[in-house]
Amino acid sequence: MEHITVLDDRRIILGVTGSIAAYKAVDLASKLTQAGARVDVIMTGAAQRFVTPLTFQAVTGRPVYTSMWGTDTGGGLPTHIAHVGLGEGADLLVVAPVTANSLAKLAHGLADDLLSVTALAARCPVVVAPAMDGGMYEHPATQANLAALRERGVAVIEPARGRFASGLVGRGRLPETPVLLGHIRRALGRGGPLENMKVVITAGGTREPIDPVRYITNRSSGKQGYALAQAALDAGACVTLISATQQLPVPVGAVLVPVESAEAMLDAVLTYSRDADALIMAAAVADFRPAEIAQHKIKKADQDDEAPTLALRRTPDILMAIKTQRAATGHPRAVIGFAAESHDLLENAQAKLRRKGLDLIVANDITAPDAGFNVDTNRVVLIDAGGAQHPLDLTSKARVGEAVIARVAALLGTDEEAR
Ligand code: PMT
Repeated sequence: MEHITVLDDRRIILGVTGSIAAYKAVDLASKLTQAGARVDVIMTGAAQRFVTPLTFQAVTGRPVYTSMWGTDTGGGLPTHIAHVGLGEGADLLVVAPVTANSLAKLAHGLADDLLSVTALAARCPVVVAPAMDGGMYEHPATQANLAALRERGVAVIEPARGRFASGLVGRGRLPETPVLLGHIRRALGRGGPLENMKVVITAGGTREPIDPVRYITNRSSGKQGYALAQAALDAGACVTLISATQQLPVPVGAVLVPVESAEAMLDAVLTYSRDADALIMAAAVADFRPAEIAQHKIKKADQDDEAPTLALRRTPDILMAIKTQRAATGHPRAVIGFAAESHDLLENAQAKLRRKGLDLIVANDITAPDAGFNVDTNRVVLIDAGGAQHPLDLTSKARVGEAVIARVAALLGTDEEAR
């Protein structure tokens, strides 16, 4: 697994309490470790009835902390007093799963086990993921404790609805690892270079209907657009993701606006860009659509053994419309386009950059099988308005997303250098 930049080298305390969902925390600890985080697990006594410390030790490669009375001997903590050493300098405290009992302790400041003492000593942001029977979760006492924690700035991950170990159905299940990871990324991204910035991102290939069952589209999977959305979230941005594909998991924290055609994408982009700081057009917008959309399915039987001829019409150019809106309103403050090219990559990209009035264009070579449409990697050259070129070697779409987002921060003057 590729390291995730926002998690890389971060020190995360993972508190595990006594819920049957404790077994899911093993996968979370493993994925966090694989992503580059240093994970220090604290288990309550009840958690150890479900999973052993050895399991967490094996997946994190680090000592697991279980007792308030021991001192740290091998974990390299800033001090040997475990609860102080664990809290000191930690980037995040995540309690997943958190039981009703541990929630109550956290809400009321009780300190009778290593996890609750550490939570009081730590000064880092806190994320909790409740997991319990539906009745316990909905109980006014639990809800009051959650409200008190939220009031104090603790991020609460909503439990999922579903079947419990008891066989009952309700809300109270620990969400799956990707969702937990998404919330953890969001918490770590706070205060990033795009904090409070509104970023609109488009993704996927638009579908232009022929009749109620057929459409014209292209090979875009949306992967590059979704990777950009995740990178913007990791940088602390408020992200609106206008997507022509509904096949990919939506990054936690992004507001999804599903669209189908170029026309619908145009409407959505104009609406959401009105007060946006940045727009990134990664979508492969169809350039042509059927001139007429048949109201009913076109039947073979109606064609006299001939194939029908499809007349095409140009779709609106979204970036050109944004150019006009921006000239009138000043928003979006930064506009980034992509250029998917099969030849004369740099010349064609530069021409689009100028014609569409962009601040940056991502020239995307789509001839190689490992770049462009529907793969996990990409090979691009970032070209800025002054013509300066920044080539990126073949890399993951996640890394391309991060590189583009770093340029967006520079364009908005919110990057490290400007701060
Ligand atoms: O989705 P993936 O499978 O991950 O693939 C990623 C990608 C190859 C689709 C992506 O990296 C990419 O290159 N996106 C742009 C594709 C494209 O439509 O390029 P273009 O050169 O035709 O358009 C230039 C720019 O104008 C693009 O920013 C495009 O979004 C925009 N455009 C295009 C047509 C149109 N009618 N309106 C537009 O605003």
